Amino acid sequence: MDKFEYYNPVRVICGLGESARVGKEAAKLGKRALLVSYQEHSFFNTLLENIQTQLRNEGVAVETLYAITANPMLSQIRQGVDLCKKHKLDLVIAVGGGSVMDASKAIAAGVLYPHDLWKMFNSRHDVAVAIPPEQSLPTLMIPTLPATSSEMNCIAVATNDETAEKSYIYHEILYPNVSIIDPRLTCGLPKFQTTCGAADAISHVMESYFNGTDDTPLQDRLHEGIILTIMELVQKILRDPGNESLRMSIQWAATVAWNGWMQCGVSPLTPMHHLGHILSAQHNITHGATLTIMMPAWMKHGYRYHLDRYVQFAERIFAIPTAGRDKEEVAREAIDRFEAFLKSLELPTRLSDVKIEADEIDFMTEEVARTAFTADGVLAGRPALDRSGVKAVYTLAI
Ligand SMILES: [Fe+2]
Repeated sequence: MDKFEYYNPVRVICGLGESARVGKEAAKLGKRALLVSYQEHSFFNTLLENIQTQLRNEGVAVETLYAITANPMLSQIRQGVDLCKKHKLDLVIAVGGGSVMDASKAIAAGVLYPHDLWKMFNSRHDVAVAIPPEQSLPTLMIPTLPATSSEMNCIAVATNDETAEKSYIYHEILYPNVSIIDPRLTCGLPKFQTTCGAADAISHVMESYFNGTDDTPLQDRLHEGIILTIMELVQKILRDPGNESLRMSIQWAATVAWNGWMQCGVSPLTPMHHLGHILSAQHNITHGATLTIMMPAWMKHGYRYHLDRYVQFAERIFAIPTAGRDKEEVAREAIDRFEAFLKSLELPTRLSDVKIEADEIDFMTEEVARTAFTADGVLAGRPALDRSGVKAVYTLAI
């Protein structure tokens, strides 16, 4: 287990119906709010109207930015910053999934940022080329999709629409002040959003489980608990989508998957996300769907380098018998079972499922090198990948 430092100041209010508290909580944080949600927000109209009413009843003035898309764009963040400056707003409220929450964090920090906004974002995995934000307006998150844990972490991901580069900020100034998690808001989520969100949450613990350090027995079992819980819950939810109890449980599982608790002492790396980001940046593929493609391919490439961990995964997640068996055979069986689980959710597991062909692999490999390689010329992970390794993983994903 590695040394670590942990800090998380987010006030979490979690429960069915708790979104009725948005007005009162917002009034503690500011007087003039920017309310941020999706460009396509018809699904949320009633909720957004309700929140606006709550805010006005508590004396909080509201401007709206309903402009965020999946894979939020830098230009949308710039719009939010301009609105905040123009109307002298002092609070940013997000109503939506990870895209809306991430954009809102970047807007809140961007208002007080003296440089060009893209300089806030890392453009290389471990090279300090970004200039971190030092201040932020307060933020209030109302997540509507269990997936990213943006409601309880200090990460914001965005795509620069001028360069088709997807990158992120990881800085504690971005922690939301308050997150009101009302799982009732997720009961009407369509199947694709539900399954993509579940897959994304699983991918967050898979990254640190397969790419972190060794000798982390408690963290291992926490990771396995999240994976098993979400696998079980998402299948139940598909049979009973309106079940509030199931929706609450999966929401909390997704929140803790990437709020930092799992990753303490594990030194997590996120190669699967970096490989997937290229698919989003070039083809605007939903984030969770990029992970369902990259996870099996990554595992098929990497299991020989970390074999005991994959055998543990086989035993503890799928109860695969291991006694007297070849470890590689056990690992491959677990990977096949995991890919079959993702397929059972009717999610893509191959590049060809999203119409990406082999002739794009060279270009995608160069994009990974450009956007995510370390100064040593590799994509960090277990194993670290050079260009030929990246190409090998993409090829396994065809
Ligand atoms: Fe993710």
